[in-house]
Amino acid sequence: MAVSPFRFAAWAVMAGMASGAFAAGPPVTPQAVDTTGLPELGDEWLIENPYRAETAGEDVWERAIEIGASGYNQNCARCHGIEGVSGGLAPDLRFLEAEEYGDEWYAERFVNGYTQGGVTKMPEFGDLLGQEAAWAIRTYIETRPDDQAIADNTDALKALRDQMAEASETDAEAVRGELIEIAEGIETLSGAPIADSIARRAALVIDGSPEGFKEAAETLTIGLSAAQ
Ligand code: HEC
Repeated sequence: MAVSPFRFAAWAVMAGMASGAFAAGPPVTPQAVDTTGLPELGDEWLIENPYRAETAGEDVWERAIEIGASGYNQNCARCHGIEGVSGGLAPDLRFLEAEEYGDEWYAERFVNGYTQGGVTKMPEFGDLLGQEAAWAIRTYIETRPDDQAIADNTDALKALRDQMAEASETDAEAVRGELIEIAEGIETLSGAPIADSIARRAALVIDGSPEGFKEAAETLTIGLSAAQ
């Protein structure tokens, strides 16, 4: 089991306090996820994430994060929290170890959901969403950045954003270099090697053009306001 006794106990207390939320009605039906562009995986459930960069290559990994973000937001966020930051209704999935140990537990819950005393606390997703969606969502979850590390860099990120607002006077290489340095200092909580942070996202879209700066600045603005 991938849950430390302490975390489980802390969660159980909070879930008990919030249990009224489950009484509001049965969980909403799972929403299908479009997994076009991801390698197909067949019917037999895997026990390890096949979309990690070291196994599937960077392109598949990037695509999995993108598809997983939308799949997560539609199906998981209302219980497990926006960006994976749990408000206490359900466990914080960012801590699930990004290795076979954590993956196996993830797949178990994804396929079977969780029912307690005849009450469905988490619906089954396996057959309805399929395993391409499952592992895309897994890839998204395990690459969430440590929100504390982002909070620690808020001032630096705001300064870079303001600098990009003056696109014509901004040195693209310098700003990108600073963003990459910040991104490299931000870790995941799952142990996955790369955190998909707003600093990383912003660095990726900077190409020296005014549009690139605008998109990067927006990425930072949206990300920083979500982190408040
Ligand atoms: C209706 C609320 C709800 C929804 C929607 C939901 N979950 Fe859950 N989930 C829970 C609850 C409650 C638990 C705790 C059950 C238990 O005791 O293991 C849980 C547990 C889990 C666990 C085990 C975590 C751990 O640390 O032990 C995983 C993995 C998980 N959910 C993944 C997902 C994914 C992925 C989605 C979306 C596809 C999802 N859940 C959608 C309520 C929900």
